[in-house]
Amino acid sequence: MGSTIVDCGGGNGSLAISLANRFPGLRLIVQEREEMVAIAEANIKAHLNPNSADGTIAVEAHDFFTSQPHIGDNYTFMLRHVLHNWPDAQVVNILENLAAAAGPKSKILLIERVSGHFPVTHIQLENNAGNTAAVTTPVSLIGEQTILNSLSLMPHALTLHLLCQLNSHERTLDQWGDMIVQAGLVITGVYKLRAIVSILECRAIQT
Ligand SMILES: C[S@@+](CC[C@H](N)C(=O)[O-])C[C@H]1O[C@@H](n2cnc3c(N)ncnc32)[C@H](O)[C@@H]1O
Repeated sequence: MGSTIVDCGGGNGSLAISLANRFPGLRLIVQEREEMVAIAEANIKAHLNPNSADGTIAVEAHDFFTSQPHIGDNYTFMLRHVLHNWPDAQVVNILENLAAAAGPKSKILLIERVSGHFPVTHIQLENNAGNTAAVTTPVSLIGEQTILNSLSLMPHALTLHLLCQLNSHERTLDQWGDMIVQAGLVITGVYKLRAIVSILECRAIQT
């Protein structure tokens, strides 16, 4: 049996839907707060490819500050735009629950902004004409340079917002690494994306 991806704090299921529509063999579970379950189910019903196999995406109520019920190597855990909303102690707590559930082969994928990783990827792509064929850019009325200029201010605005509203902040790779290790995980890969977020691939430290 292939790995099932558990999208912790998966919101309305948008990432799970995109992945399932792109890779039809995947199985995903969206975990969310109780009040989000019906919203996610409705969104999945509306946007998941109707030809998808039954049970491609399940939705379940789960508080990520409690023990993770899906245990062992058959699960990959994914969190997008979730951890940056929380102070360090809570991030460690969320990750500890995943470290306890993960098997030796499980991956824990953190999809977050890594301070210093932006906008390097965009500039690299812009300067590498050979690479642009693979880039799907949404049609926009404003030019690429305008987008780059405005996006380069975004990390600062976001950090201020997170600090004022949530007692959190955007983190550098070292700051992510400190919390990840405290939680009993280790970073096994860092992937820059053509986006403001990167993927930190982690595994549980085997004791
Ligand atoms: C910024 S949203 C990200 C949603 C989704 N991952 C995405 O990328 O579209 C953070 C999500 O975390 C969920 N959340 C907050 N506290 C939670 C908790 N204790 N347990 C599970 N989910 C929680 C919220 O309901 C919200 O949907």
